[in-house]
Amino acid sequence: HSVGIVGAPFSRGQPRDGVQRGPDVIRGAGLVRKLEGQDCMVKDYGNLIFEEVSNDHPFGTTKQPRAVGLANKQVADAVQRVKNDGYTCVMLGGDHSLAIGSIHGHAACRPELSVVWVDAHADINTPLTSPTGNIHGQPMSYLIHELHNKIPVMPNFSWIQPCVTAKDIVYIGLRDVDPEEHYILKHLGIKTFSMTEVDSLGIARVMEQTCDHIFSKIKKPIHLSYDIDALDPSLAPATGTPVIGGLTYREGIYITEYLCQTGLLSAIDIVEVNPKLAKREEEAQLTASVAVDLVLGCFGRVREGSHRADYKIP
Ligand code: ARG
Ligand code: MN
Ligand code: MN
Repeated sequence: HSVGIVGAPFSRGQPRDGVQRGPDVIRGAGLVRKLEGQDCMVKDYGNLIFEEVSNDHPFGTTKQPRAVGLANKQVADAVQRVKNDGYTCVMLGGDHSLAIGSIHGHAACRPELSVVWVDAHADINTPLTSPTGNIHGQPMSYLIHELHNKIPVMPNFSWIQPCVTAKDIVYIGLRDVDPEEHYILKHLGIKTFSMTEVDSLGIARVMEQTCDHIFSKIKKPIHLSYDIDALDPSLAPATGTPVIGGLTYREGIYITEYLCQTGLLSAIDIVEVNPKLAKREEEAQLTASVAVDLVLGCFGRVREGSHRADYKIP
């Protein structure tokens, strides 16, 4: 595997300080060294640098639209570059508003992509349905063709064009969905595996059905957008909007192992790791090391173990 890492230290899609430190704490947990240790070719593109935006007053109820729009343009350009350089892209957030740029940039290189969104939340509010005005609860709404006529044009958002179709999206891990979001998911017929389906089917059948759904016609490249809050807060406590009753470590890792073996993982987001929200240092470490394990699972780590093709017993 060849892996291109982009850090996006950005927090303006939500109100809590600290999530901009996500890229550095995930690297600090040994990401590059561990990927290289499993024979990946890694290029770390470093962190993007986001300018402060002044007078970024709300657009309607939507908060900090100019900063979010501008940062996502940088993310889109960076992801496009990493893809054009031939790597599987890993975007380290930052908050989940960054999926706008990551998916947009990915789609510019892979127009036929599908999205697997692993999250406690659907993040599909439009600016008009959002109960909070936080753009990290809205990224999918800007990207889906079928919602295009419901999206007002906001400052620094005019470059964003919808680039995914409702039928090419699968959600896994949902357990905190706003009523308006629930309506949108049903209305657009989007495939969802809430925690109830994870309970009833088991994660193995969830992943089989996920791939049946996204590969129904052609084998599409996969964009995996992984919000760390999909995992249970006991595993990933350092995050802004934790929700009890999440994926276990084994379920969380199984998703990555399963998608890896399709050979179609093309870009990955790891978002919403916020070390500042840890009650003690160990909670920050735990969350970051689980984030690293998810990335390792995406690039060939398997729990049965592995060995080099030319290995001989000495
Ligand atoms: N649904 C809520 C909202 O729209 C919460 C979203 C949480 N999103 C996240 N990326 N953690 O604000
Ligand atoms: Mn979430
Ligand atoms: Mn999210």
